[in-house]
Amino acid sequence: MAGKVRVAIVGLGFGAEFIPIYQAHPDAEMYAICQRNEANLKKVGDSFGVARRYTNYDELIRDPNVDAVHINSPIPDHAWMSVKALQAGKHVACTVPMGTSVEECRQIVGAQKKSGKTYMMMETVVYSREYLFARDLYDRGTLGRIQFLRGSHQQDMDGWPDYWPGLPPMWYATHCVSPCLAILSDAVAATPASPKPNIALAESVVCHGSGRIREELIKKYNSPFAVETATFKIKGSDVIAEVTRSLFDTARQYRESFDVTGSKVSFEWQQVEGEDPVLHTRGLPEPQIPKRVKVPDFAALLPEPIRKFTGAIHDATHLSFLQGAGHGGSHPHLAHHFLMAVQGKQPAFPDAGTSANWTCVGICAHESAMKGGARVDLPSFA
Ligand SMILES: NC(=O)c1ccc[n+]([C@@H]2O[C@H](COP(=O)([O-])OP(=O)(O)OC[C@H]3O[C@@H](n4cnc5c(N)ncnc54)[C@H](O)[C@@H]3O)[C@@H](O)[C@H]2O)c1
Repeated sequence: MAGKVRVAIVGLGFGAEFIPIYQAHPDAEMYAICQRNEANLKKVGDSFGVARRYTNYDELIRDPNVDAVHINSPIPDHAWMSVKALQAGKHVACTVPMGTSVEECRQIVGAQKKSGKTYMMMETVVYSREYLFARDLYDRGTLGRIQFLRGSHQQDMDGWPDYWPGLPPMWYATHCVSPCLAILSDAVAATPASPKPNIALAESVVCHGSGRIREELIKKYNSPFAVETATFKIKGSDVIAEVTRSLFDTARQYRESFDVTGSKVSFEWQQVEGEDPVLHTRGLPEPQIPKRVKVPDFAALLPEPIRKFTGAIHDATHLSFLQGAGHGGSHPHLAHHFLMAVQGKQPAFPDAGTSANWTCVGICAHESAMKGGARVDLPSFA
């Protein structure tokens, strides 16, 4: 599409983070906001100066001026909201995960194909400075051959809103799955069955559940495990990835981590929040093998007006509305990439099929854990 993309943001907790980014982006008009609570809607709208406001999602997507919706609602609402928006002819950006079942992912992929509109799952990790740094090292040949990949995402979700208690850890696994697949995405072998040979996709997964959460947490999703840990195979590659998730009754500071074991150099991020990642260089004397490294900023990849948003706290005037974590500076990269995809300048990454594969690694991993570690093949979204 030509001209500015008129964006509507749905869900104004995490979603509010993106308002000033779209407002500053030269190709976007931050047109509308939507959330159910009217008082909070007014507060956010007044603070950021967004005039068009909706408490009802159906009314929002009937507005012909909305080109694209960016969904940041609770997890159970991602799928139906994405499908409805695509059916209404809107481009869709949606926070993770895409959905919570294979069927929901199928519906979104189908609706995207039918509508011809852009769908992009807004996965923060693959636009974080740590991932972009690892990717850059790999592209330059510094890491050598990738031999193994590992991700983890640990968080204590006690006290979070009602859809969280008892959620199977692997239903929200995209933060640790996605970097493992994204970094291989130009490296996997082409096969006649693979219409997009440069996108690495998971093929099958084996997962074990470990430990047990409190009985009252188990009931909602019938998911007993404190930790779920999985290995998955990647189509067209001999590399295996391992991912670990925990959400309840586990002592661990918040961690998103991503390790790449290379034949020449390995990259490890991170043990404790805020520590610099470590590079391990093969062939050096043992004590010199690990070395901490400062990860550079990748703001130069962005249009100048939104480069400032790669910083951790980027908007002092709206601090009360912004979580300010920035997720490795990923937010402006995500918004920019989505807008470019809507304008047809580059494909969405991840697109609908890729988002479905990343999300279903976790969904199938939980299925595997519930079956005592049986291998589960990933569905095809080709
Ligand atoms: N790194 C990341 O990618 C990341 C980080 C934080 C949150 N998230 C995701 O963002 C989503 C929101 O998280 P949060 O912490 O802001 O949650 P939250 O519960 O604080 O906010 C949810 C928002 O959605 C709105 N909402 C709920 N139902 C709605 C409906 N039917 N119509 C319109 N608006 C509706 C609520 O009013 C609220 O503004 C979650 O799915 C979470 O997984 C992702």
